[in-house]
Amino acid sequence: MSTFKRNILITGGAGFIGSHVVRLFVNKYPDYKIFNLDKLTYAGNLANLRDIEKNANYEFVKGDIVDGNFIQQLFSSNHFDGVIHLAAESHVDRSISNPMEFIMTNVVGTVNLLNAAKSSWLSDSQPLNSNRFYHISTDEVYGSLGKSGFFTEETKYDPHSPYSASKASSDHLVRAYADTFGLPVVISNCSNNYGPYHFPEKLIPLAINNIIHNKPIPVYGKGENIRDWLYVEDHARAIDVIFHKGKKGETYNIGGHNEWTNIDLIHLLCKISDKKLNREAGATAKLITFVKDRAGHDLRYAIDSSKIQRELGWKPSLQFEEGLEKTVDWYLANQSWTNNITSGDYLKYYEAQYIHR
Ligand code: NAD
Ligand code: TYD
Repeated sequence: MSTFKRNILITGGAGFIGSHVVRLFVNKYPDYKIFNLDKLTYAGNLANLRDIEKNANYEFVKGDIVDGNFIQQLFSSNHFDGVIHLAAESHVDRSISNPMEFIMTNVVGTVNLLNAAKSSWLSDSQPLNSNRFYHISTDEVYGSLGKSGFFTEETKYDPHSPYSASKASSDHLVRAYADTFGLPVVISNCSNNYGPYHFPEKLIPLAINNIIHNKPIPVYGKGENIRDWLYVEDHARAIDVIFHKGKKGETYNIGGHNEWTNIDLIHLLCKISDKKLNREAGATAKLITFVKDRAGHDLRYAIDSSKIQRELGWKPSLQFEEGLEKTVDWYLANQSWTNNITSGDYLKYYEAQYIHR
């Protein structure tokens, strides 16, 4: 007989944001059992969770959300009363070169989880309201803004990349399961995250790693595209608040009110790096290299997060300069984490440690 008050399934917990959410929940809720379901794709890394992996309320499950039979069995053998679904293919550039992987994981995988939650919860003796299916999504579903305006929860979906189209599709399916079957769902759409354990294919960790190794910093096009950056631990706190206090069936936008053009962001990063690496002022900026633009590159993302601030009392805690400096410090202190990724060593470790299902 389990002694835990609730069993929570977190998918994609070995990834960037997922690992921060798992860490927060494991530490903050010792009376919850946290199951981390992750396929350990190239983006999943159990080294992100070393500090909590031995906790009594944590269990890692290696598995693929695209495997519907496996997901049904997992829900039959464990009574989950909450699902926080982060597992996804997440990199826009990869979605341009290999869209099918995104459709399988982000769309088919999400439907497999919805089906399993539906069969488990609709036959449950507990009232449905005590269960919750929480889909973690992106502001990229709303498309691209011009120079002004913000994405609100009412903004019409207009995704442009295969990644954002797959996430838009999964958002629609989550809402369809609420409308059709009464599944208790909640969705949040967040802006770009940054911070520790960010996979070094995304702009900020890629730039930091290249700066450390004196390699070119690739800036797409003229660097004029704008993103709204949020420190990853602030996102994890928002997820905690929405999971516990968000209203059933609602959508919440999460963002930092922190817009930067890519080129201004890179210049700030270069300035911080000059200081941290004892380089002459302006030395790091010489690494900036303008490269071919991304196909269909969205110009601007900016989130209006007034709903979550007003209704749930969440707000971002870190100023960008402070968060970016913390992030550079983390990457400097944890170069072996990045080196294991760039050398591919972490993947070899998994092959040896875990038998594929
Ligand atoms: P990530 O790529 O770092 O991690 C994804 C995780 O999912 C990895 O651990 C991977 O192994 C796992 N995974 C992938 N396919 C799987 C499958 N078929 N079965 C089981 N596990 C699988 O991604 P992230 O940046 O941490 O993003 C997490 C979620 O948050 C995603 O749903 C993403 O769309 C969303 N999101 C990300 C951002 C951002 O800035 N990174 C912003 C808003 C929303
Ligand atoms: P990215 O981190 O891939 O996040 P997303 O595409 O989900 O917003 O990219 C952030 C911004 O940085 C985006 O406008 C593309 C740009 N970018 C570069 O200029 N150079 C790079 O090497 C990468 C990976 C991204």
